Amino acid sequence: MATKSKILIVDDVKDNVDILDQYFKLKEFETILAYGGKEAIEKAEKFEPDIILLDIMMPDLDGFRVCEILKKERTHFKNIPIILVTAKDDVESKVKGLSLGADDYVTKPFSVQELEARVRSALRLKKALEELKELNELKNQFLGMASHDIKGPIGRIEKLTEELLLKKEKSWTPEQLEHLKKVKQEAEVVFNLISDLLNVVKIEAGKVGVEFQKVNVEKLIEEVFKMNEMAAGAKKLHIKTVIDPKVPEVLADPLRLLEVLENLITNAMKFSKSGGDITIQLKKVKKGIEITISDQGVGIPEKELPRLFDRFARLSPQPTAGEKGTGLGLSICKQIIDLHKGTIAAKSEVGHGTTFTIFLPG
Ligand SMILES: Nc1ncnc2c1ncn2[C@@H]1O[C@H](COP(=O)(O)OP(=O)(O)OP(=O)(O)O)[C@@H](O)[C@H]1O
Ligand SMILES: [Mg+2]
Repeated sequence: MATKSKILIVDDVKDNVDILDQYFKLKEFETILAYGGKEAIEKAEKFEPDIILLDIMMPDLDGFRVCEILKKERTHFKNIPIILVTAKDDVESKVKGLSLGADDYVTKPFSVQELEARVRSALRLKKALEELKELNELKNQFLGMASHDIKGPIGRIEKLTEELLLKKEKSWTPEQLEHLKKVKQEAEVVFNLISDLLNVVKIEAGKVGVEFQKVNVEKLIEEVFKMNEMAAGAKKLHIKTVIDPKVPEVLADPLRLLEVLENLITNAMKFSKSGGDITIQLKKVKKGIEITISDQGVGIPEKELPRLFDRFARLSPQPTAGEKGTGLGLSICKQIIDLHKGTIAAKSEVGHGTTFTIFLPG
């Protein structure tokens, strides 16, 4: 026998509760009853209902507040549908209820058959959501496993080709040498893609341990500067740093933050033509610090900016010297900055350049 769905019925008027209690019991639901807002929250915690019918006007704690507490503060209730069942039929109340997280709104007097149909529809959606979540987890597990298994062999191919290139250079014909170099390059591209994929999967599964410690961001900037100075020079680009001496240390994960900066600098170089400047600026702002990375490169069309931080975003700006990319860098940056409770945003003008701004609370 299928297990019964549990429905929590909340109303301060006992007659209203009784009618719904009888009706839904007849329809094979398990009912849980509450006669006030506080009791509703207690019973929701205790009995873990599948769906909640919630009156708004109640003396102790009104339905709006109950809805807000369950949906916004106790996030384990986020996916439990709440249907507000109320005599308040003005537009403001409906908008307020739905924006506080309620899934549906039914005004009294109502037909119980309609209410039942809405309950069943909300439960169908909840089930679909649960199935989606499960599928997404499965997909991530699969991606994680596949990436992990590919990363080892591809890393070895890269290493072995490098050794061949170093040792036997003299005995290779120029054509063979070209081929070997190509093998190494392609292996590198796959290796980076796989590393990015693993990163995305881990972050999504909440498995990325961000280890917060006091970080001197100026030092990190110096580090990325040193790491990229040569590559920039090779493309005739000039990296400048502008550091505000008053910048305090912030709580952050230095390795992750370095990854973000590295990604942004690599992008700035990739999408700049030779001769351009790249500026990394660090300053103190209200409630934290701000890092900006600006280039004078090709720029991003305004209509593409909303997709900039999406995974595998296929945008029109192309690397200026045939560099490779997978379109994961910025989505990883965004996730890392989110984990730091910061923000990342971009401004750009086609033909003039792009500026990324990171805010980190401090
Ligand atoms: N500084 C920039 N100037 C112009 N376009 C940019 C800049 N940064 C990013 N873009 C555009 O946004 C896209 C997504 O950037 P993202 O860093 O996510 O991917 P990628 O650099 O192509 O690949 P990956 O970082 O995974 O190696 C780029 O392909 C490019 O079209
Ligand atoms: Mg990138």
